[in-house]
Amino acid sequence: MKRDFLRLKDLTSDEIELLLKRAVELKSGKDANKCPLIGKSIGMIFEKASTRTRVSFEVGIYQLGGNSIYLNPKDMQLGRGETIEDTAKTLSRYLDAVVIRTFSHKSLVDFASSSSIPVINGLSDLHHPCQALADMMTIIEKKGRLNGINLTYIGDGNNVANSLIEAASMMMINLKISCPEGFEPDAGILKEQKAFSKSEIKIVRNPEEAAIGADVLYTDVWISMGQEKEEKQRKKKFKGYQLNKEILSFASKDAIVLHCLPAHRGEEITDDIIDSPQSVVFDQAENRLHTQKALLEFLLLS
Ligand code: CP
Ligand code: NVA
Repeated sequence: MKRDFLRLKDLTSDEIELLLKRAVELKSGKDANKCPLIGKSIGMIFEKASTRTRVSFEVGIYQLGGNSIYLNPKDMQLGRGETIEDTAKTLSRYLDAVVIRTFSHKSLVDFASSSSIPVINGLSDLHHPCQALADMMTIIEKKGRLNGINLTYIGDGNNVANSLIEAASMMMINLKISCPEGFEPDAGILKEQKAFSKSEIKIVRNPEEAAIGADVLYTDVWISMGQEKEEKQRKKKFKGYQLNKEILSFASKDAIVLHCLPAHRGEEITDDIIDSPQSVVFDQAENRLHTQKALLEFLLLS
């Protein structure tokens, strides 16, 4: 039966562990000359802008010997009213998998349920699971483990935060999320994961308090794609939720700084922090490539 990757929980903790190990192998150059996806085509439907997700998937697919087809919904019949279901059924006859970046998570779920090939979430309003895979790989690379790591996320309770909650609960990471009132992560995801998890997942309103003793500090933009109309209001609300020198001073001395990128420098993170030696954001971006190659192998070949 086909497997989808719409959210992190579509994999088990054991599968994530194996996938991350495989990503480390791929990064080291192991199997660099093998082309396991030869003869396979992967569609990439992007409703929103992307630098990392698009390029890392396209390059990863090429390195594995496969063929990627970038599809702008505006150029497809999807943009002229063909249903998601009919599109999914048709593409399933040509392709071996689809990566989709979309606004509504529900349309991703609808697509996946009408499709007979694996569907990968390249970001939706609710989840960014491919990002969380690279985040975990980066933490392992820099800190040697996930279990017991203290991760503090400061900023908007958005798709990236929701996927970090799932990562934390599955891999025993202690997670503190510091966000203004009204900008919490998805209540359903939070409740489900808190009940399921043995690790600590907490909302801590005060960012300084949340940062105390953190091994990893993470932030993301205050205004996600599709929220541009709320810019003014959001900028006001998030003012105190910036990853800066002061916040970093509360974390562990050897704390690392993560950001999924793109960064809005001077808003959620200051230049001195994102450019500091503690920042590993470009290793994190690179790890998108290795983790997604491991994911494609897992979904298409196992
Ligand atoms: N982090 C991330 O998904 O980046 P892009 O929007 O550039 O793909
Ligand atoms: N939360 C951001 C992540 C971008 C990679 C967004 O959805 O725009």
